[in-house]
Amino acid sequence: MKRTLGVCYYPEHWPEDIWADDAARMVQAGLSWVRIGEFAWQRLEPQSGVMDFGWLDRAIDVLGNAGLKIILGTPTATPPRWMLDKHPDMLAIDEQGRPRGFGSRRHYCFSHQGFRAESKRITRLLAQRYGSKEHIQAWQTDNEYACHDTTRSYSYAATEGFQHWLAQKYQSPAALNRAWGNVFWSMDYDDFVDIGLPNLTVTEPNHPHVLDFYRYSSDMVVQFNREQVVEIRAHSAAPIIHNYMGRETSFDHFKVGADLDIASWDSYPIGFLSDRIEGSPEHKRRFLRQGDPDNQAFHHDLYRAVGRAGGAQSDAGGRWWVMEQQPGPVNWAPYNPAPLPGMARLWAWEAFAHGAETVCYFRWRQAPFAQEQMHAGLLRTDSADAPALAEALQVSQEINALPEVGTARADVALVFDYESAWAWEAQPQGADFDQFRLAFSAYRACRRAGLNVDIVPPDCGDLSAYKFTLAPGIMHLSAPLRAALAATTALIGPRTDTKTEHLSIPTPLGPNVPSLNASVVLTESLPPDVGVPLENGGKFVHWREVLEGEAPVQLRTNDGHAAIIGDKLRYLAGWPDDATWDMILRDLCADVGLTHHALPDGLRLRDTETHRFVFNYAPEPIHWNGTEIPAAGVHWQTL
Ligand code: GAL
Repeated sequence: MKRTLGVCYYPEHWPEDIWADDAARMVQAGLSWVRIGEFAWQRLEPQSGVMDFGWLDRAIDVLGNAGLKIILGTPTATPPRWMLDKHPDMLAIDEQGRPRGFGSRRHYCFSHQGFRAESKRITRLLAQRYGSKEHIQAWQTDNEYACHDTTRSYSYAATEGFQHWLAQKYQSPAALNRAWGNVFWSMDYDDFVDIGLPNLTVTEPNHPHVLDFYRYSSDMVVQFNREQVVEIRAHSAAPIIHNYMGRETSFDHFKVGADLDIASWDSYPIGFLSDRIEGSPEHKRRFLRQGDPDNQAFHHDLYRAVGRAGGAQSDAGGRWWVMEQQPGPVNWAPYNPAPLPGMARLWAWEAFAHGAETVCYFRWRQAPFAQEQMHAGLLRTDSADAPALAEALQVSQEINALPEVGTARADVALVFDYESAWAWEAQPQGADFDQFRLAFSAYRACRRAGLNVDIVPPDCGDLSAYKFTLAPGIMHLSAPLRAALAATTALIGPRTDTKTEHLSIPTPLGPNVPSLNASVVLTESLPPDVGVPLENGGKFVHWREVLEGEAPVQLRTNDGHAAIIGDKLRYLAGWPDDATWDMILRDLCADVGLTHHALPDGLRLRDTETHRFVFNYAPEPIHWNGTEIPAAGVHWQTL
C-alpha cells in the first residue's frame, strides 16, 4: 500500500468557477484525497426539509473528475440556526447549567433524541445520494467529537438518559446505593427518577456518581456515532472514519473506533505545545516552531490502536490516518508561531513511519473571513502558494521514490485506559494527577530511550509478544488484564488496581496481583515544587504511595519505603520525574535485552518493518550515529 496525502477543502467557501483550478492544483501538488462537506449542513438544507444538493453534486464531480478521491463528512457538528426553532432544547448545557449558544459549532447535546433523529436523517440523505458514487472513497462522521469540551451535557435530556442508563446498569436503587456508598451523607435514592446529574452540588459530588455520568456521556458519543455508521453502511461500502482530537479523553475512543474502519486524528503540533502539553518554559521555547517531539508520536500510536479496535490490519495495529495536519500558524492557541521550514514535511513522514496510510493537510486555502481567517492553509487567501505547499509536494515525490515501509509491532506496550482518565478526573486527590499526563510521561521516557511503543487498550488480551509492558494509573484491573500482566515483564503503578470498578477502596487493599504480594496502605499528593527523594538520586513528583508487602524491593525512597517492588511484575509506588523514568527504563531494557539509546534532546527514532526513521525536532542540526540530521530534518535508512 502506497502512503498518500490529501487536503481539507470547503467548496461552499469559494466561487464555483475556481473549483476546477483548485482541483488541478491539488493534483499537481501530489495530493490524492480531498475531504469535504463536514460543516455544510446549512448549505445542504437551507430550511428544514428543503434540500439543496446541486452544488455538492457539482463539487463532487469537479473534484472526482480531476482524479481526487473524496472523503465526505456528515455535517452534524454544525446544526443550522433553524434547528433551534425546531428543537429549542437541543443545546448542550455546561456544568454551570448554562446553555451553550449558537454562533460557532458543536452546540448540540448528545442525549437529545430529537437532534439524534435529525443527525440520522441528514446522514441517511447523504448516504442515499452519494453512497454508490465512485468518487466517494471514504466517509467521515461528524467532526472531532468532544472538541471544545462538548462530550458532557448537563441538560434535561441527559438527566433522563442517565436515569435510564443507571436503571439498566444497577437494576435496583438499592444496588446503586450500595455501589456508590450513598449511606454516606444520607444520599440514598428510592427511585432512579430521583437521581440528578453530578453538577451544581454544594460541595463535591460523590465520585462514583461522577464516574458513572462520565461513562454514560461516553456511551452517548458511541451511540451517536453508531447511528450514523448504520445509515452510511446501508448505502455505501466505502470505509468510515472519524477525526479524533489530541489529548481528548472524555469518551472511550476504543469503543467509538470499534464501529469504524479507520481511525484518524487532527494533528496541530505547534498549537498543542502552546495549548495543552506540559513542559518547562525552556522546553516550550526550544520546540516553539516544531511542536513537542513526542506528542504527535503518542497520538499516532494511540490512534493506531483505536484503528485496530475497528479490525486488526496486522499484528502492528489497525488502519489510521492524520485527517488534519497543521500547515502553518493556527489561530486558536495562546501564541501561534509559524513552523520551522521542513516541519510540514517532517510531521507527515513521522505519521507514515508510525503507520498512517494518509495525511491530509488542513486546509487548502486560508479563509479570508470568519473565525479561522488567521489560520494558514496550503494556499494563502490570495491563492498564492503558502510555504507548506512545496513541502507537501516534496513528501508526495518522496513517497513515490521510497519502497513501502510496513508497520512493525513495537517492543514495548503501554496500556491506556479512558475509564481511568475519568476516575482520576472525578477523584484527582492531587491537582496535578491526570491520566493522560502520567501515561505521556512514561511514553516520553520510552521515546528518549529510542524505543518503539504500541499503545494498547485495557482489553488488549495477551501481552507476551512485548518485551515489557507499562500500565501506569489503571484504576482497576480486569481479570484478563491482571492475568496478562502477571504473565509478562511489566511495570504497573502508581495507582494501578487501587480501586474497585465503582471507584471505592477494595478489601483486601490493591493492587490485587497475587505474584506481587504488596498493597498500597497510604497515598499522598504533592505540590509541584516538592519531591520525594529516591535512593538512586531521582525523585517522585506529584504522587507517592507507601506499600506493605513481602515482595523484593528494587528501589527505595530516602525515607526507607519501597519505591519499586516486585520481580518480573513490578509496582511503582509514585510518579517518577524524568530522570527516574530514564533509570527505570534503562533497568527494564537491561533485563529484557533491549537497547536503551539515551537520545539527544529532540532526536527521535521510529522503526518500521524495513526502515529506521530518524526525526530531528531540534532547532539545530544533530550528529547521531555518524549522520548529521539537519534541524527539522528526517533521515531514513534500511534496517
Ligand atoms: C480542528 C477542526 C477544524 C479546524 C481546525 C483549525 O480542530 O477539526 O475544523 O477548526 O481545528 O485548526
